[in-house]
Amino acid sequence: MKIAVLPGDGIGTEIIAQALKVLEALGKDGLKLEMEQAPVGGAAYDAAGDPLPAATLKLAREADAILFGAVGGWQYDQLPRAKRPEQAILGLRKELGLFANLRPAKVFPELVEASTLRAEVVAGMDILILRELTGDIYFGQPRGLRRLENGEREGFDTMRYSESEIRRIAHAGFRAAMKRAKKLCSVDKCNVLETSQLWREVVTEVAREYPEVALSHMYVDNAAMQLLRDPKQFDVMVTGNMFGDILSDEASMLTGSIGMLPSASLDANSKGLYEPIHGSAPDIAGKNLANPLATILSAAMMLRYSFNQDQAAARIEAAVSRVLARGLRTADIHRPGTQKVGTAQMGDAVVAAL
Ligand code: IPM
Ligand code: MG
Repeated sequence: MKIAVLPGDGIGTEIIAQALKVLEALGKDGLKLEMEQAPVGGAAYDAAGDPLPAATLKLAREADAILFGAVGGWQYDQLPRAKRPEQAILGLRKELGLFANLRPAKVFPELVEASTLRAEVVAGMDILILRELTGDIYFGQPRGLRRLENGEREGFDTMRYSESEIRRIAHAGFRAAMKRAKKLCSVDKCNVLETSQLWREVVTEVAREYPEVALSHMYVDNAAMQLLRDPKQFDVMVTGNMFGDILSDEASMLTGSIGMLPSASLDANSKGLYEPIHGSAPDIAGKNLANPLATILSAAMMLRYSFNQDQAAARIEAAVSRVLARGLRTADIHRPGTQKVGTAQMGDAVVAAL
């Protein structure tokens, strides 16, 4: 099992280091993992003048899975778009055809009190957000900045989805729902957008092949509201790239901290890139403050989805639960009565709990 390890920027290096500790511990127990690191994002720009150097892309292409930290930093904000760190993750998704982004938002019972919502609203919540990742307004052409006749500047982007793109993510949504509570909510804005109208038509067609799944449709504004009102009504939510970006951040916070949520981005053959859904958090980088659990849980998703190592994945997840049950907390989830620990201590604790 060959893994390309791309730590990236900011807290990326610290959190990836913790996930590697956990994978190495499993390695000692017989899991055969081959890991190779490469720079990505701002770190790669600094080293090679390119956020996604050819060598990094090659390593990612040739690996069976990619473990990714985070990219971005204020020092890169003024660079032209093509050189910005975000282009690395967008490029990897596009180049590797990683169209299905799984973002589970599940509340650990120990962290119910860390949510900004009342415990009874979030306790037991278990949502899977399935976000389409290689289309939509993120990649649609034309896009750009232009000068209008009156001399004013205009920015424009294109939201677009082809039928086949919608169809394959819809299938992924129904398949995911079949493995869970068999409820799929498709999120769109079909009262306003043509793209969404096609989205809804195609999802409805695909639904005929999954008679056991209860399909519902929801406008994205309503979905944003319903996630706060009653998140437990949802099982699997399937949506486009842009809406999924926003709703998955929202859903993550219901669980107490964005620092807890892993993700998987899969291609048609379950090759995947695994990353925490949070960013590079430059404000806390290098301070041993970041929560490594989202990255450690991303490594668990990698073992499950790309390597079919369900047992090893479950071991990691159980170890995380045990550490939380023991009261260990990084700053983002710390509450009075729990024990505050740093990034490295949290990683060590998970290894010990394995
Ligand atoms: C995410 C991030 C990325 C996105 C950024 C870093 C390009 O917000 O993975 O959700 O918008 O997809
Ligand atoms: Mg995002």
